[in-house]
Amino acid sequence: MTNRKNSVLIICLILVIVSVTNITSAWAWAPFACDPRNGLTRSLRFCKVNLPIHARVQDLIGRLNLQEKVGLLVNNAAGVPRLGLQGYEWWSEALHGVSNVGPGTKFQGAFPAATSFPQVITTAASFNASLWQAIGQAVSDEARAMYNGGTAGLTYWSPNVNIFRDPRWGRGQETPGEDPTLSAQYAASYVTGLQGNYGNRLKVAACCKHYTAYDLDNWNGMDRFHFNAKVSKQDLEDTYNVPFKACVLEGKVASVMCSYNQVNGKPTCADPDLLRNTIRGQWHLNGYIVSDCDSVGVLFDDQHYTRTPEEAAADTIKAGLDLDCGPFLAVHTEGAVRQGLVTEAAVNQALANTITVQMRLGMFDGEPSAQHFGNLGPRDVCTPAHQDLALQAAREGIVLLKNQVGSLPLSTVRHRNIAVIGPNAQATTTMIGNYAGIACGYTSPLQGISRYARTVLQAGCAGVACPSNQQFGPAIAAASQADATVFVMGLDQSIEAEARDRTSVLLPGHQQELISRVALTSRGPTILVLMCGGPVDVTFAKNDPKISAILWVGYPGQAGGTAIADVLFGTHNPGGKLPNTWYPQDYVAKVSMADLDMRANPSTGYPGRTYRFYRGPVVFPFGFGLSYGRFTQTLAQAPTKVIVSLSNDYATKNITTLNNAVRVLHTNCDIPSVSLHIEVKNTGDLDGSHTILVFSTPPGDTRMPEKHLVGFKKVHLSAGSQQRVQMDVHLCKHLSVADEFGIRRIPIGLHTLHIGDDLKHQLSIQIN
Ligand SMILES: *[C@@H]1O[C@H](CO)[C@@H](O)[C@H](O)[C@H]1NC(C)=O
Ligand SMILES: *[C@@H]1O[C@H](CO)[C@@H](O)[C@H](O)[C@H]1NC(C)=O
Repeated sequence: MTNRKNSVLIICLILVIVSVTNITSAWAWAPFACDPRNGLTRSLRFCKVNLPIHARVQDLIGRLNLQEKVGLLVNNAAGVPRLGLQGYEWWSEALHGVSNVGPGTKFQGAFPAATSFPQVITTAASFNASLWQAIGQAVSDEARAMYNGGTAGLTYWSPNVNIFRDPRWGRGQETPGEDPTLSAQYAASYVTGLQGNYGNRLKVAACCKHYTAYDLDNWNGMDRFHFNAKVSKQDLEDTYNVPFKACVLEGKVASVMCSYNQVNGKPTCADPDLLRNTIRGQWHLNGYIVSDCDSVGVLFDDQHYTRTPEEAAADTIKAGLDLDCGPFLAVHTEGAVRQGLVTEAAVNQALANTITVQMRLGMFDGEPSAQHFGNLGPRDVCTPAHQDLALQAAREGIVLLKNQVGSLPLSTVRHRNIAVIGPNAQATTTMIGNYAGIACGYTSPLQGISRYARTVLQAGCAGVACPSNQQFGPAIAAASQADATVFVMGLDQSIEAEARDRTSVLLPGHQQELISRVALTSRGPTILVLMCGGPVDVTFAKNDPKISAILWVGYPGQAGGTAIADVLFGTHNPGGKLPNTWYPQDYVAKVSMADLDMRANPSTGYPGRTYRFYRGPVVFPFGFGLSYGRFTQTLAQAPTKVIVSLSNDYATKNITTLNNAVRVLHTNCDIPSVSLHIEVKNTGDLDGSHTILVFSTPPGDTRMPEKHLVGFKKVHLSAGSQQRVQMDVHLCKHLSVADEFGIRRIPIGLHTLHIGDDLKHQLSIQIN
């Protein structure tokens, strides 16, 4: 009896377990391919998980006819029902959180929102590479969870790593700033965070865009669809391509996007030199090259680059394009093959590049297993940990630009009543910038400050455009009665955005007048918080003794208001640094945005761009940022001499040196890096973070950068403590410069290393 009872019980238990297992693995949607429930297709060779990916890819391509193939060349890829392939939308975005800008991702059902991290320009200001990777990791957790829920893709066309060359660029906010080394590190770190470190397997596929020299959207009658960027080989090698190269070589990104613009007369998406020879040939991209959306159409319709649409299709595929965002290749590639303009083998190669990425993502392995993050679901999105990370990123990205003695931090004892003034005081969506999604929730600046003090709100302006001074009166009254005044001013997407470059870097409309007028009669300290992506010329505020402090917060993400208030009241000691040069309005008045030269030209009076080449006056320099505390740094140990050895084939110096600089390709780059040991001490009485910036000035001709960033490291130090930090400077990567032919060389002679502003060290580079 008991035995029989027991076995019935066991059978029941097994049934329960089986049905529970069925429930957890019963996806609401059919997998993209190789559905285990599809008896017709699951046994096909390309579905066999144990075969090598390239064999599976070749098997699948071998089964497709030409019509089916061209249907797979576009973002909205057609299904192939007879082989059990669903359609797939390749276009999703995750610049600083899962976004619904691309059609591949929707917020709906169990996924109403995702964590909205600060806009990239803000995160870059943290100079914290581990933070960039941690954000990528959190974002890809949320992306995978949403994919499992059937509401997102796995291919994300982020990050944007174009150099923020001109302060007027509307999309500068999306980038990590003006410096190639910083942007390269950002690209590698964020992409590694997104894609994960799983060998050939991908958590999600990232994409570095827009290759290359794309940083003009719409300015003075020129637009990105027609713009021909004239770029020297030197600038391409040591500026514009640097982040892309690092993204591919160090980040091992699964995709690169070519841009709308032309470079030196050729659309980038049809340039075999840029795509096939450089990205694939030299950098060995393991992934696919995708066009910007409709850019194949653009090069035919707008740029009239080819005579027929079939030629446009053929030229891009031959140049190395694998996937078209837009319908063009699906419509015209079959004709191009039939006319003999491109071979079917070239189409196969393009498909091999895209399908390989899909296989690495596990899309041909049936339902997502645990190894493919199948366990992630709604509870992994907007988690407290992710939202805390968004707050941490906002705090770390805030830059203190001015602080007259004793002004900040505010005190909850002495500053109980705060006048909060300005069009961005109640910002919510403004704080997440562009290429955002739907945030889990917001804390506005006003809400953040209200946690520390009583607040009185006055907009002062009708929106950031601030078209009149009609609302000044109540703002002046509020400030004259408060213990402190906090302005939250700046820009939003109506001023700087995709397809919208600025013409001026001054604050819009009457903003400046409002600030100066209110500051004149405000009772307590007056603090200016600038919420904007691109830099603004606030010389007036910098010089006005009535304005006690200035903070730049970028677009600080969903938790921006908390971070701003934490900095204002000293709960967080600010440590961010500017990732770009803040130029005076004068500069933009005389420099054409269409001029891509980085280097100054004394014969024409062109002043050059970025801290690397521009020597004129600035409002705030690259790398600037104050703290409430004090840090000192000393050089504890550093070599004074390094020997570069030539690789055997180039033992005769003759062919390898030009202007006393040795060609990197001919040297032995395995040599250990130059190690600097820097002692950092927090001499203040507050805990805080300090960023060590190491620059180098190479010897030699005037076309070399005045100085350029070769490394950075952020350290956190409690009050009174000190730490020895090792910085490794790689000879070939960091101490080389590009010559006028775009060839990288290490200048022989004395290089000056700068650690911060004051500390200098001479390093002699010699050749064996
Ligand atoms: C940098 O970011 C990481 C990851 O979020 C964090 O653990 C670390 O404390 C940050 N470093 C500093 C110096 O703030
Ligand atoms: C250097 O190389 C050039 C061309 O390769 C050759 O003509 C010249 O004789 C060489 N000079 C020396 C000093 O070896």
